[in-house]
Amino acid sequence: MSMPTSRLTVRSAVEEADGVRGLLLADPEGAELPPWEPGAHLEVTLPSGTVRHYSLCGDPAERSTYRIGVLREPAGRGGSEELHTAVGEGTLLGVRGPFNRFPLVPAERYLFVAGGIGITPLLPMIRSLPPGTWTLLYGGRSLASMAYREELSVLPGVTLVPQDTEGLPDLDAVLARQPAGTAVYCCGPEGLLRAVEERWPGPLHTERFGAAPAERPVGEDGFEVELRRSGRTLRVEPGRTLLDAVREVVPGVAYSCEEGWCGTCETKVLAGTPEHHDSVLGEDEKASGTTMMICVGRSCGPRLVLDL
Ligand code: FES
Repeated sequence: MSMPTSRLTVRSAVEEADGVRGLLLADPEGAELPPWEPGAHLEVTLPSGTVRHYSLCGDPAERSTYRIGVLREPAGRGGSEELHTAVGEGTLLGVRGPFNRFPLVPAERYLFVAGGIGITPLLPMIRSLPPGTWTLLYGGRSLASMAYREELSVLPGVTLVPQDTEGLPDLDAVLARQPAGTAVYCCGPEGLLRAVEERWPGPLHTERFGAAPAERPVGEDGFEVELRRSGRTLRVEPGRTLLDAVREVVPGVAYSCEEGWCGTCETKVLAGTPEHHDSVLGEDEKASGTTMMICVGRSCGPRLVLDL
């Protein structure tokens, strides 16, 4: 990604729900911001240097601010904690993007399934569609924890399912009601995504983020990796990730989530067969073996050659 980093200032920070902070970001000089489409996200560099990705959840027609919603995750790796406690009005943040890996494709009907903070990329999608063409199933721990529930509850087609009073959403019943050809969009925790994937045979679009429970695959066998542009060959020992090894030679290599869902560390494969563990690439891209996420990917064979 060659898009430059710009500096945006936090114009406002408000509590959107229990544990969810909503931030409006604006150009410090008031300039119009680059356009975006529903599903897009920003790469945000925090004052500490931590890089995180947040979906845009405002109105694409509003070109003076970007709106993001951040879930506080005390057991996370610190990015959300910093945005909740150390960032306020006037803080400058580094921002790249918007990028869109989760675009809204044309369909006759849509079902949106959101779990918790997974509502954020779906909100602008819903707002861009005519009423009657979509329904939303939005689950959360409790009503108070469900961000944007007030603006959603005035829209037709929205079902809120707070777990503390209503249990988990009845996916079987909801999916069984969908006409063939419905495009299903799902964003939320890994368990919800897997449950929808197992039940829905039609078009399915998912975005994973938040604390994915998947362990970082560290492999039982080591392998060799040649970094062609750097002219170096390294050994990736069992118990280490490919990214860890690469960073020793290319300290500026781009990465962020280290869990295989953000796409920042995507790297071209020049030779060898990558073993994919990410949720960014589609099945065809994985099968082609020409690119990989080096934070979680490994090698099927004894040697890989990367364009680094
Ligand atoms: Fe996010 Fe690799 S760093 S996919």
